[in-house]
Amino acid sequence: MEKRFPGGKRLRLVVGDITRVHADAIVNAANSSLAGGGGVDGAIHRAGGPSLMRELDRIRAQTGGCPTGSAVVTTAGNLPARFVFHAVGPVYRGGRHNEAELLACCHRTCLSMAEERDLRVVSFPAISTGVYGYPVEAAAPVALAAARAHLEREGNCVQEIVFVLYDQATYDAFARALEPR
Ligand code: APR
Repeated sequence: MEKRFPGGKRLRLVVGDITRVHADAIVNAANSSLAGGGGVDGAIHRAGGPSLMRELDRIRAQTGGCPTGSAVVTTAGNLPARFVFHAVGPVYRGGRHNEAELLACCHRTCLSMAEERDLRVVSFPAISTGVYGYPVEAAAPVALAAARAHLEREGNCVQEIVFVLYDQATYDAFARALEPR
């Protein structure tokens, strides 16, 4: 599914493995200690190779990690991209612990990082909806609102935001949030 914005910009939803989709920056769903993990984090490190963790080790040594709602950047190793933005989504604790703002903040931070580097195509997984337990029906509108706001703003460099959703149920939830009936 695809939604068009002024200036030919696009928001796309696809089902797939984010490590196989070309982008200028691939967003990872990481954790605050930047220590790697399962899910999309594991897949990105496996496909990207050990250079990603070496760079994260240096960042961790300098900063101690990455706060929830923020992101850090590494190069992309063997992935079909130039950069990986390692974003830390919120753990879902019922929805009244600022989860939506933190999730939105993750997306906005990554998109700002893309603008700083003059990037055109950014891909996101469904951050926080796996191990971190954020219900996808609640996460999808938050993620999509941040993406739409970015694409609607004039003068931005990012031309295409792709949500690469690992299974059909996640895709369907994003599609419903993008085109509510
Ligand atoms: N491509 C795209 N999406 C994927 C892939 C993949 N290769 N693998 C998993 N996913 C999907 C999951 O199905 C889920 O919809 O990514 C979404 C996010 O799930 P998680 O990877 O569990 O991320 P999150 O919920 O943000 O939890 C982060 O999990 O792996 C650890 O280190 C990570 O501690 C952190 C936590």
